[in-house]
Amino acid sequence: MPSRDPIRFNQTTIEGRELDYIRRAIEQGHTSSSGPFSHKVVELLVAAHNAADVLLTTSCTDALEMSALLLDVGPGDKVIVPSYTFVSTALPFARQGAEIVFADIEPNTLALDPASVADLLDPAVRAVVTVHYAGIGGDVGGLMSVLPDDVELVEDNAHGLFGRIDDKPLGTFGRFSALSFHETKNFVCGEGGALVLRDDRDIDRAHILYDKGTNRRSFFLGRVDKYSWQDTGSSFGMSDVSAAYLLGQLEQKEIVLAKRKAVFDTYVEHFSGVAERLGLTLPSIPPGRVPAYHMFYLLCPSPTMRDALLAGLMKRGITATFHYVPLHSAPGGRKFSSRAYDCPTTDDISGRLIRLPFHNALTNQDQARVAQAVVEILEGSP
Ligand SMILES: Cc1ncc(COP(=O)(O)O)c(C=O)c1O
Repeated sequence: MPSRDPIRFNQTTIEGRELDYIRRAIEQGHTSSSGPFSHKVVELLVAAHNAADVLLTTSCTDALEMSALLLDVGPGDKVIVPSYTFVSTALPFARQGAEIVFADIEPNTLALDPASVADLLDPAVRAVVTVHYAGIGGDVGGLMSVLPDDVELVEDNAHGLFGRIDDKPLGTFGRFSALSFHETKNFVCGEGGALVLRDDRDIDRAHILYDKGTNRRSFFLGRVDKYSWQDTGSSFGMSDVSAAYLLGQLEQKEIVLAKRKAVFDTYVEHFSGVAERLGLTLPSIPPGRVPAYHMFYLLCPSPTMRDALLAGLMKRGITATFHYVPLHSAPGGRKFSSRAYDCPTTDDISGRLIRLPFHNALTNQDQARVAQAVVEILEGSP
């Protein structure tokens, strides 16, 4: 009798010393931001990106808000984002009063299409935000080749920590990159994020924005004798309890990445022999791109088949999900852009994509059950 136990879409796992570190964070008393665990996480992320600095935030959305503030975008400016992404890629820039311009994605990596960006460039464009979808690097070289010098690149790297394009880590191409440690990501701490700074020139102001608009950091560095209100900002800092959790996860980087790669490769083994017959497309990894293995998706032959697959899997106790609803046609997207956009690849992909269960604790048996169910449903069993 095959197992009918539910297979969850996502599951957080304890990978190392998280519980011990959380306890220590509480016991040692510095539980707010910029405590001892935060410093260790920052060190690790600075080294991973060879960054000028890293600021731990309460979310990737916060980190992107900081980049919008640091770029001083506002009314009269435009920011190009993919339509196929989460709201957070666009919202921070819209909130600053910039007009959002929606670009289409490439059909292979599902990341920004440089040709679409090139079509949308005009002198009002101040920044382009790119997403490495599923942790697979987008065509950053193509993007750089179409961007004028005065247009800043920001990487929404919510999916891509430790992924690479050739030898260069994702998150090191733009002036800023933003990470997510939300419970659905590869390395988690409940809610969390980080802003990665490539340039020294951004360090001082970034810390002022981070510390509620004050020069508190200069005070602690002994540069001023008291700190005071200097600029705009907010309370963006991650608590040291969350940083303790995150350190426990990041210390197991190699183990986590290996587990996720194994899950991805196992799905590829299951589906590569049947994909053509069933009309399925598997994720594509262009040469030179080393993924962060954030998720595994299938592109179904039609939206009807995708919806039938979602329902059939649910009936069998397997939670799979669709992904982004295109931003260009969402009410919020229309509110923050001044014209209608055509993003045909985005519309097509959004209707046909299904994400399969993917987490560190997924077993080979679970994956075999998922694969068998997909085949059965697409062959006509409800
Ligand atoms: C591409 C992308 N950017 C940003 C976010 C938001 O991350 P956070 O919840 O850490 O703000 C998500 C969330 O899933 C995402 O997929």
